[in-house]
This record gives sequence, structure tokens and C-alpha cells, in this order.
Amino acid sequence: MSLLTGRTAVVTGGAQGIGFAIAQRFAAEGAEVIIGDLNGDAAARAADELGGLGIACDVTDASDVDTLLAVVPNVDILVNNAGITRDATLRTMTEDQFDQVIAVHLKGTWNGVRKAAALMRERKSGGAIVNISSLSGKVGMVGQTNYSAAKAGIIGLTKAAAKELAHHGVRVNAIAPGLIRTAMTEAMPEKAWDQKMAEIPMGRAGEIDEVASVALFLASDLSSYMTGTVLEVTGGRFM
Ligand SMILES: NC(=O)c1ccc[n+]([C@@H]2O[C@H](COP(=O)([O-])OP(=O)(O)OC[C@H]3O[C@@H](n4cnc5c(N)ncnc54)[C@H](O)[C@@H]3O)[C@@H](O)[C@H]2O)c1
Repeated sequence: MSLLTGRTAVVTGGAQGIGFAIAQRFAAEGAEVIIGDLNGDAAARAADELGGLGIACDVTDASDVDTLLAVVPNVDILVNNAGITRDATLRTMTEDQFDQVIAVHLKGTWNGVRKAAALMRERKSGGAIVNISSLSGKVGMVGQTNYSAAKAGIIGLTKAAAKELAHHGVRVNAIAPGLIRTAMTEAMPEKAWDQKMAEIPMGRAGEIDEVASVALFLASDLSSYMTGTVLEVTGGRFM
């Protein structure tokens, strides 16, 4: 028997990158996987590869999140992974860039947590929620006052929700990845990439599968006595 046999997992922003790697790993462990992504076509293509379902969903819109969670009758696992960056220094960041990043990460995660938790409580089936934060939320990064604020906010949200939901058998944990090789980070200028590499004790960037295996741990019964935690997947950077 695999770790997620018989479970249904919803992954937001799962059409590519870290979210897709998580969806792939969950499917390989026997889960039925539903992918929700702003890009509905990409979500459908990605889910098709896994024998799951993919639909268009903007996590900032509560009714979209309701629709995503209604695709299956029972949600056992939710991964709030959808994300964007709109980097700029304080001097140049627009109000719109700030609002967009806060909306996708913070409100998007809040929408996912509250909607999935309501369904899990109603079914009295318990569940596991995994929120994707970032090392940027722990230490703060230049050019990311919006993103660092949102990712730190996700940690507070995770802990508050973990306390509210523990006695319902719903566990809520977070992952803080460091530098992971994806479309989001490959867009970075070479100088910025090299600077980050110099800060990583393990001397390399992380791979998406290395985040996916930690998500699997938090989503499965392997972590049955863990809630409200933040696991860093960073190669030792800023430990
Ligand atoms: N790549 C890294 O180094 C790194 C490090 C720390 C944290 N993270 C976090 O991991 C998560 C995934 O990042 P990635 O690198 O795979 O990024 P990515 O850009 O490759 O994928 C993000 C996905 O989210 C989707 N998305 C964007 N806005 C959305 C919305 N409003 N509703 C639904 N879906 C939406 C995109 O369409 C895309 O498919 C993000 O939360 C990101 O902040 C990434």
C-alpha cells in the first residue's frame, strides 16, 4: 500500500513547477489529484498526465476555490502552492504590485485553508493542509517587501489555523523552500543567482522533487503528530 492510497489531494498552482512536482509525487503514492491553476488549459494538461482533473481557479476568488474543492466529494489533502512574484525595491514598487502579491499568497492561502477546513470538519474525516511559504518570509529579501510580507503572513496563518483545527483532526503545516530551480527562479539575473548560491551551505539550488518529498511527508500519516510546523527546504541557507 502506498502512502496516499484512497486519499484525494487538491494542489493549487499545480500546472507547473513545485506544485506540479507535488501533484506528481502524490499521484505516484496513490492519491487522486485535482489541480487548480490560473491557467486552466495548463492545469488540464498537467492533470491529464497524472490521470487526475485540472481546472481553472484563481485562488484570490473565494467562489473559484469553492468550485475547485467541489470537483470531488471528499478533500483529504490541500496544498496551497499558487504564487507569483512582483519584485521591486520599496522606492519603485507600485501599490498594485504589493496588492497582487498579498492577494495571491495570503488571501489565496486563507481561502484554501478556510474552505477546505470547513469541508473536512463537516465530514469529520480529518485532513492535512500544506501551505507553501518561503525562506523570504523568514529572513526578508531585498526587492521583496510584498513577497516577504506575504510569505511571513502564511506562517502566522498556518499556526493560527493549526490551533483552531487540531481538535478536528485537521493538521496544518508549512514548507519554506529556499532557492529551487523553477521558471520563477530561472528568470533571475545571473548575478543574483550566483549571490544566492554563495549563501547555501550545500552549494547548490534545490530541485522541485526535493520540495515534493517534504510535502508528501506533511500530507501523509508519516507526520501524524505534527501541526503548526514550518519545514525549511533550503540546503542549510539562513538556518
Ligand atoms: N522556486 C523557488 O525557488 C521558490 C522558493 C520559495 C517558495 N516558492 C513558492 O513555491 C510556490 C510555487 O512556485 P514555483 O517556483 O513552482 O512557481 P511557478 O511560477 O513555476 O508556478 C506557480 C503556479 O501558480 C499559478 N498561479 C499564479 N497565480 C495564481 C492564482 N491567482 N491562482 C491559481 N494559480 C495561480 C501559476 O499559473 C503557476 O502555474 C509559490 O508559492 C512560490 O512562492 C518558490
